[in-house]
Amino acid sequence: MSEKYSKYKEFMKTLGKLPEIIQGGMGIGVSIWRLAKAVSQQGQMGVVSGTAVDSVIARRLQLGDPGGDIRRALSNFPWQETARKVLDNFFIPGGKSPKDSFKLLSMPSLPMKRESAEMLIVSNFVEVFLAKEGHDGLVGINYLEKIQIPTLPSLLGAMLAGVDFVLMGAGIPLAIPGALDGLARWEPVEIKINVDENTEKLAFSHHFDPTEFFPGELPELKRPGFLAIISSDIIAKTMVRKATGYVDGFIVEYHIAGGHNAPPRKVRSITGDTEPGFGPRDIPNLGRIKDLGRPFWLAGGYASPSKLKEAMDTGATGIQVGTVFAYSKESGIQPDIKEKVLQQCLDGKIKVTTDFRISPTGYPFKMVQLKDTISDMGNGVKRKRICDLGYLRQPYFKPDSESKIGYRCPSEPIKNYTKKGGAEEDTTGRGCLCNGLLATIGMGQTRSNVSEIPVVTSGEDFTNVIEIAKISGTKYRAIDVIGYLTGKTTEPSTENVLKLESEKFVT
Ligand SMILES: Cc1cc2nc3c(=O)[nH]c(=O)nc-3n(C[C@H](O)[C@H](O)[C@H](O)COP(=O)(O)O)c2cc1C
Repeated sequence: MSEKYSKYKEFMKTLGKLPEIIQGGMGIGVSIWRLAKAVSQQGQMGVVSGTAVDSVIARRLQLGDPGGDIRRALSNFPWQETARKVLDNFFIPGGKSPKDSFKLLSMPSLPMKRESAEMLIVSNFVEVFLAKEGHDGLVGINYLEKIQIPTLPSLLGAMLAGVDFVLMGAGIPLAIPGALDGLARWEPVEIKINVDENTEKLAFSHHFDPTEFFPGELPELKRPGFLAIISSDIIAKTMVRKATGYVDGFIVEYHIAGGHNAPPRKVRSITGDTEPGFGPRDIPNLGRIKDLGRPFWLAGGYASPSKLKEAMDTGATGIQVGTVFAYSKESGIQPDIKEKVLQQCLDGKIKVTTDFRISPTGYPFKMVQLKDTISDMGNGVKRKRICDLGYLRQPYFKPDSESKIGYRCPSEPIKNYTKKGGAEEDTTGRGCLCNGLLATIGMGQTRSNVSEIPVVTSGEDFTNVIEIAKISGTKYRAIDVIGYLTGKTTEPSTENVLKLESEKFVT
């Protein structure tokens, strides 16, 4: 038996049947634990977002942790002294006053402060613990490769809560499978950190020894499955050949998917200029992906029973779905934003564009055109540039500092960015996704009575949001989405049917 095959068998044995439906990771805080849990309880895979989850947990605690979920998860963290520190630092009984600003965490940087690493470990633990609580369905966690500094402590936290899968895109996550192997054995692990303008070709890395953080006996850790989110068969092949450990499968994401997309190959326009835009060369070759012999799921406009069947017919294990879950009752998006987007859908006015500038990562980013959000910038919506979360800051070579690393973000104040050697043209059209995405889930910062402006991302295909709402009402739940996709439709609640009749869904 080949090594590849025996590893696959071993993986199948540990995890049982692989799901047909993966609810895609949606950051920041859109695929909150409640959504992932609802999906997992239906025998499919729910995925929480690990992006900026330390800020999400810090803010939920500052909002008073209504329902006590975070505190319950914290009381299950294996090292209570560390959990207590988090609680003491952020919990405000009854919640902060809406006028007060949220207390901030230190921005991600190296060498990492012990306090930052602990917060990452604890918050990733909390989110996965809550998603897994009370059932034995599969739960995954999603990270972006582009955000490198928080990754290793985050993985440890998720693994302490028994995460079943790690899913990672927005880059080529070659180092992660090996890091998972090492962490599962409680060994020190390391990932290379990409540093811009590294003219002296110094090797920058984040070295992380998991045993440094916890005294006494260490619990056994399961090595989660690793799924790379890719948009090209070439990257899939590179992952199989060059990753530091076993890649258990792929999410093949088409460019109509929500969130960040892989950058397109350059397309030559009629005038001969090269300008960004997706073309036929951005469609992955599924035959070549299938030939790699690993399970794969198709994502981006696959949220219908017929597309699920089509995916399975091509040899896929199933589909990954985002947008339809983003507007379900359990997602983290603020109810008033969900309502506005759904109304635009009903009115046939929903518009999602690919913005090639807005994300400081430089990756294309899908934006719902919605009044009073960042998409409306210039039409009366203004935002003073400020960078105080820093997840998307890019490290750059700074020879005169002790660590030799500086950090800059093209959406920070232009003066600061250029002072750090950044080119002014890089700042054009950028938006602060860190603050904007937190505002979308009701955790936007307030500074001197000025609130952060939300940014709403979704996939381009809304047809199935409308279909599901027709069946189950606009306040549809994750279980309704699963019912729709698998053909086992659930009965809508009376409340939803009544609501539906007063709306324009009825055809
Ligand atoms: C609101 C939203 C946020 C997203 N955020 C992320 C993310 O943080 N990481 C990621 O890998 N994919 C992200 N995605 C992509 C989804 O995980 C999923 O692959 C994609 O939405 C599938 O396409 P669909 O929306 O057409 O179903 C996001 C999608 C949405 C709708």
